[in-house]
Amino acid sequence: MTGRLIVLSNRIPTGGPPSGGLVVAIHELLAERGGLWIGSGDDFAETPSESFQPVEGGKGYDKAIFDLTEAEYNEFYLGYANSVLWPLCHHRTDLIALDRQYAEGYARVNARVARMLAQIVEPEDVIWVHDYHFLPLALELRKLGVTARIGLFLHIPFPTLPDIEALPERDDFYYWLAAFDLVGLQTEADVARCLDSYRARPSGEMLFNGRVKFDDRAFEVRSFPIGIDGKTFTETAQKPITHNPVYIRANAKLILGVDRLDYSKGIPHRVRGFGTWLENRSPESPRATFIQITPPSRETVPAYQAIKRELEALVGQINGRYGELDWTPIRLIERGVPRDTLAPLYRLADIALVTPLADGMNLVAKEFVAAQDPEDPGVLILSRSAGAAEQMTEALIVNPHDAEEVGDAIERAFMMPREERQARHAALLQVVRDTDIFDWGTSFLDRLNRVERKSPPAA
Ligand code: G6P
Repeated sequence: MTGRLIVLSNRIPTGGPPSGGLVVAIHELLAERGGLWIGSGDDFAETPSESFQPVEGGKGYDKAIFDLTEAEYNEFYLGYANSVLWPLCHHRTDLIALDRQYAEGYARVNARVARMLAQIVEPEDVIWVHDYHFLPLALELRKLGVTARIGLFLHIPFPTLPDIEALPERDDFYYWLAAFDLVGLQTEADVARCLDSYRARPSGEMLFNGRVKFDDRAFEVRSFPIGIDGKTFTETAQKPITHNPVYIRANAKLILGVDRLDYSKGIPHRVRGFGTWLENRSPESPRATFIQITPPSRETVPAYQAIKRELEALVGQINGRYGELDWTPIRLIERGVPRDTLAPLYRLADIALVTPLADGMNLVAKEFVAAQDPEDPGVLILSRSAGAAEQMTEALIVNPHDAEEVGDAIERAFMMPREERQARHAALLQVVRDTDIFDWGTSFLDRLNRVERKSPPAA
C-alpha cells in the first residue's frame, strides 16, 4: 500500500487503551500502516464544522473527530441510521420510522463528512468506511472528484429485496453502494441477497467473481466474516473472576446471555424458551439460573423503550411463577460489564444462549467459545439467523422464534456427554482461531488494494 489508510466509523474509542476486538484490530492495522481514524465526537456542536478536529490517542497514527449538532444526532444517528436502516436490515420494516427530516439529516451529514474528507484525501490513500451510518459517503466523495479506493464493510445483515422496497430512497440505495470499490459483507447469505437485489434492477449486471456492474459503475461484493482476537480473549477468560462464583452460580448451573438491549437480539423470545424448559425439564435436568446481561442502547428510540418494557414484564412473570425461596430463575442486568469480568464469566457458564432474530455475525458466540475450558466446555446454543451460524455449525443451532426448540436445546445441552461437548467445542474453537479479527482486517484491505480504481463520474 502506498498511501495512507483512512478509517471512518461512527464510533471511535476515546481515552484509555482500546479494548474490544474490532477497536483493537483497527488500532493495530493503523499502527502498522500509519493513517487516520475518523469518527463522531461525544459533544454536540452549536454549528456544523467543515473540518475534522484532531484528537489524542492514536499510537503511530492520527485520530480526528467531527461533531454533530443535536439536530444532526437526532436525524442522522437516532433517526435514519437507527430508526430506518437498522430495522430495515434486521427484517423489521414494521418498525421503520419514516420521516423526511431523517433522510435529509442523514444525507446532509454524509455530504459534510465527504467534503471534509475530500480536503485531506490523496489519490493513493485507501478509505475504509464502516457500517450503515455512511452508505452514501462514497457517492458523495465521487461527486467531489475523489478517485481513491473506497471500501465499505457492513457489519449488519444485508437487507432482502422486499425490505429495500420499503425504503423511500430505494433507488439511491443502489447508487450509494455502487460508488464503493469493494462492499464487504459478513456472510455468503448476505452476498447472495446483495447480488439478488442488483440482479433485479434493470441496469444491474453480474460480472464474474463477485463483481457487479450497475449503470456506469462496477464494484465488488464479497464476504469477510468478522472474528475476534481469540488468543487474547482465552487469556482474559482464565484470569480470576472479580465476583464470588458461588454467588454467581447461586447453587445452580449457569446459562448466560449477553446482548445490547435491542429488538433484533430476540431476548424476550429467549426468555420464553427458558420458560418452556423450566416447564418441561426432565427430573434429571439440573436447576439453572439464567443471567442475561443487556447494556441499554439507543434509549430514546421508541422501539427500544418498548422492548425494555416487554422484557422486564416477561422476566417478572417467569421469576414469579418459577422462583423459589432460595433461587431466582432469571437475573436481568441492564448494564454493561467490563471485558475482564465478562470473559471469566463466559468460562464459568454451562450454556450460552445466543439467539438473535437477525444478526450480522454475533461475536458473543465466538467469545463464549474462546473462553471455555477445553476439558469441560460449555455448550453454545446459536440462532440460525445469526451470521455466525454459517461458520459455527457445531453449535446447537436453533430457530430463535420457536420457544419449544430453544427449550429442548437447553435440555439437550445439560444432558450432553462430556466427550460430545469437547468434540463440538474443539471444532468451534478451530473456526474462531482460523478466522480471527486480524485476518479479517488484512484480507479486506488486501482485496481493496487489488481492485481497479474508479475514475470520477463525468460532470
Ligand atoms: C452494531 C453496529 C455498530 C454499532 C454497535 C453499537 O454492532 O454494527 O456500528 O456501533 O451496534 O450500537 P451504537 O448505536 O451504540 O453505536
